[in-house]
This record gives sequence, C-alpha cells and structure tokens, in this order.
Amino acid sequence: MNIKILNFEPMNNVHLNEIKLLEKLINELNENKNVTDTLEEFIKDVEEHFAFEESLMKKYNFFAYIPHKMEHDKILNELYTLRDKNNEYLKKYFNERFIPWLNNHIETIDTVTAGYFNMIGAEVK
Ligand SMILES: [Fe+2]
Ligand SMILES: [Fe+2]
Repeated sequence: MNIKILNFEPMNNVHLNEIKLLEKLINELNENKNVTDTLEEFIKDVEEHFAFEESLMKKYNFFAYIPHKMEHDKILNELYTLRDKNNEYLKKYFNERFIPWLNNHIETIDTVTAGYFNMIGAEVK
C-alpha cells in the first residue's frame, strides 16, 4: 500500500509503521484467520498515531487542532465498534472505509499539519 509522503519525517515514520500493521491485518483477513489480537494491536497503534499528532499540534498551537482531532475521534470510534464483527465485515470495512479514509486524511489535513510542523521547525521531545 502506498501513502503520501509528507514534509515532516516523524509523521512519515508513524504512518509507514501503521501501514505495515494494516497490511498484516488485511493479509490475515484474506486468509480468514482469527484477527482478534492483530485488530487490538492495530487499534492501539492508531491511538498512538493520533495521540502523537495531537500532542505536537497542542505543543505548537496548530490552528486546525480541533478539526484534525475531530477526524481522528470519528474514525477511532468506528474502530472501537469492530471488536465483535466477523471477518467479512472487517474486510469490507477496511477496504471500503478505513483505507480510503486514511489516504484522504493523510493527503489533506495531515499534509497541512506536516507543512506547519516543517515551517516552524517542530521538534519531537
Ligand atoms: Fe497521521
Ligand atoms: Fe492525523
């Protein structure tokens, strides 16, 4: 899976690691394996991905913190509803909803956020 590379390397690292885990999850779904653990691992990774961006946005007073966080919260709440769903449902959800969402999110508000972090010389820790 290809994702847009942004002007802020720490965000790219988080995204590329998430994509690896997402590919693992999709492969397991395609093989119809029990994905309970991988799904939990993925949800945790998404939580950390979003928390990382949100803490930096707060630290550097990013002007679109609220709409960016709202996008995160919305999709995270969807992920929380997946725990009791079967593999067919999950496959459809990830292919038709989550992956297009993630690509769009990275190409729009994450791009603006990364551009801002780059411009102000944001530092992680
Ligand atoms: Fe992101
Ligand atoms: Fe984001």
